[in-house]
Amino acid sequence: MMLENMRFERFTQDSRVVFFTGAGISAESGIATFRDPDGHWSKYDPMKLASQAGFREDPELVLGWYADRREAIHKAKPNAAHISISKFQKLFRHSVVITQNVDGLHERAGNRSIYELHGNIHRHKCNSCGKYIELNDMNMRILNRCECGGSIRPDVVWFGESLALETINGAFNAAQNCDLMFTIGTSTQIYPAAQLPFEAQKNGAFVIEINPEATSFSAQADISLRDKAGSILPKIYEEINAQLN
Ligand code: APR
Repeated sequence: MMLENMRFERFTQDSRVVFFTGAGISAESGIATFRDPDGHWSKYDPMKLASQAGFREDPELVLGWYADRREAIHKAKPNAAHISISKFQKLFRHSVVITQNVDGLHERAGNRSIYELHGNIHRHKCNSCGKYIELNDMNMRILNRCECGGSIRPDVVWFGESLALETINGAFNAAQNCDLMFTIGTSTQIYPAAQLPFEAQKNGAFVIEINPEATSFSAQADISLRDKAGSILPKIYEEINAQLN
């Protein structure tokens, strides 16, 4: 569908808007996704790197992988898609970002009202008591202990772990009460996050998907754009900004 043919007059600056994102929105910043052909899970076993069992079995393999990812993220910059969301958030007064990403690029781009469903790779916590702990770069590759004796690990959600209740409840509430959702750069495979576009649409939202590949949501999206986020989102912003002003 051509952008010019998309009609957005039904929305106003008071419309409630959700930007739901996955690893694909950071791909053009040079950050690897998980399920693309060159993604993390094509090289590593997720259960060895992103689970309690994997951390118990070889903590320094896990800590080293997260430290490598942190170094790649440190060298990366938010891309045009992240920056477009900041522009959208000036246009739409009531908008939130719900991300599965732990890279912190939404915050670095100046996006606001961010729900980090799967945590944040730049934070560390005790695996036992949950206390947040500051670590310096050197320490991040070796196993450190909390004063309670627990192991210190990245504050990210591993397979088999629950999401923070307040975060997921807030995200579902935002999705169920929005007028417009963009679902950007997610394979829509990991629940409960993947439920959000379906929830939004079930509750009357207009849902636009942006992904070079089709997903389980594509067939029912109101608009499904086979494109890269960094390429198409700035164009959609210009189109919507023109129609709303
Ligand atoms: N623009 C938009 N989408 C893109 C781009 C791009 N430039 N490049 C790739 N994509 C799409 C891919 O087609 C794919 O559908 O991004 C999606 C990335 O999917 P995944 O790698 O599965 O990432 P995500 O959906 O965020 O995974 C969800 O799974 O392993 C867990 O915790 C991890 O948060 C992650 C969760």
